[in-house]
Amino acid sequence: AEIMKGSFDHFMQKEIYEQPESVVNTMRGRVNFENHKVTLGGLRGYLNIIRRARRIVFIACGTSYHSCLATRGVFEELTEIPTQIDIASDFLDRRTPIFRDDVCVFVSQSGETADTILAMRYCLERGALGVGITNTVGSSISRETQCGVHINAGAEVGVASTKAYTSQYIALVMMAIQLSEDRVSTIERRKEIIDGLYRLPGNIKEVLANADNLQQLSKDTLSHEKSLLIMGRGYQSATCLEGALKIKEISYMHSEGILAGELKHGTLALVDENMPVILIMTKDSLYPKVQSALSQVTSRKGQPIIICNAGDENLIHEYKTIPVPQTTDCLQGLVNIIPLQLLSYYLALLKGQDVDFPRNLAKSVTVE
Ligand code: AGP
Repeated sequence: AEIMKGSFDHFMQKEIYEQPESVVNTMRGRVNFENHKVTLGGLRGYLNIIRRARRIVFIACGTSYHSCLATRGVFEELTEIPTQIDIASDFLDRRTPIFRDDVCVFVSQSGETADTILAMRYCLERGALGVGITNTVGSSISRETQCGVHINAGAEVGVASTKAYTSQYIALVMMAIQLSEDRVSTIERRKEIIDGLYRLPGNIKEVLANADNLQQLSKDTLSHEKSLLIMGRGYQSATCLEGALKIKEISYMHSEGILAGELKHGTLALVDENMPVILIMTKDSLYPKVQSALSQVTSRKGQPIIICNAGDENLIHEYKTIPVPQTTDCLQGLVNIIPLQLLSYYLALLKGQDVDFPRNLAKSVTVE
C-alpha cells in the first residue's frame, strides 16, 4: 500500500490530486469534443426506454447521493423527464411506490452498499428498469442492473470519497446529454456543456495549484473552530452538503451544508461574529440571490470566507476569499468541491486525525 501512495502522504490526498486525470478517464471514448456528442456504450439499446420513462428515480447514499443532487438541475433541464432523488435507506423505509415504467438509477462507488443494493432489488422486483452507475466492474450493482455506466475513476481507497464524486457527477451529466441528443432545442446548451467538460481538467489543476493558500487558511481561520456552516444555492446546494460531509467525516468537526434559500427559515439564528461560515458565490443566474444571503450573514456580523470566481474583484477586495476559475454553470460544482476537499484534508491533518481511515466508518457500508 505504501508504494501505491507514491509521493503522497495519504490515499485521500493522492485521490484529490488525481482528479485532473480521473475526470478524463470518465469521459474517454465517450465524449467527442469535436462534434459535441456523447456515446455511453453501457446504455446502448436502453436509451429510448429511458426517454419514455414516467420518471427517473435516483437512489444512492452519502457522497453518491450528493452527486445526484448536484446534477439534478441539468438532468431535468436537458431531458425534461420528471426526476426524484432518494437516499436508499429512506426510500426503503417509505416503501416508495415503483412501477414498470419507472427507470431507477443506482449510483454507488463500490457497487456494494447494502442499502443501495436492497433498494435496487426492491425496484427490479417491481419491474422497473435498473441503471447502475458504479466505479467497480463486476460489483453487485453493476451485475444486477440491466444497463449502466462505469465511471472509470480508478480504485478509490480513502474512506472520504473524492475522485468518485467528480466522476459520478460527470457520468450523470453525460447521461443527461446523451438522453437529450434527439432534442434540437438543447443543441447549443449541450455544446456549451461539452466545451466546459473539455476545459475541466485545466480548471481543476488551477484549484490544486492554490493548495498552499488553502492549507494556510485552514490553519489560521478554521482549525480551532468547533463548527462550520457551508452555504450556497442552486447548483451549489449539493457542493455545500458534500463539503460539509467531507469535513465531518475526516476532521470530526461539526459542519452543516445549508441551502442559502433556507437561511431565513431557521439557520440564520446561528449566525453571529463567532460562527464560521463559508459561502459559495461563484457566478451564475442565482448570484443576486446569494448576494442577499451574504448581506444576511454580514448584517449579523458574520465574517464569511467566500468561494468566488477568480475575476470577482469586489469580493476578493472586501472578504477572505477562495478564488476558483469560472466554468459553465452546471459544471461549476465540479470545480468548487475541490477546495472543500482540500480544506477537509488539511483540517483533519491539523487535528491529527487518521485521514484515510476515520473512526467509526468503513469504505463500503455492506450492512443495513
Ligand atoms: C463519502 O465520503 C462516504 N464515505 C460515504 O458517504 C459513501 O459515499 C457512501 O457510503 C456510499 O458509498 P458507495 O458510493 O460505495 O455506495
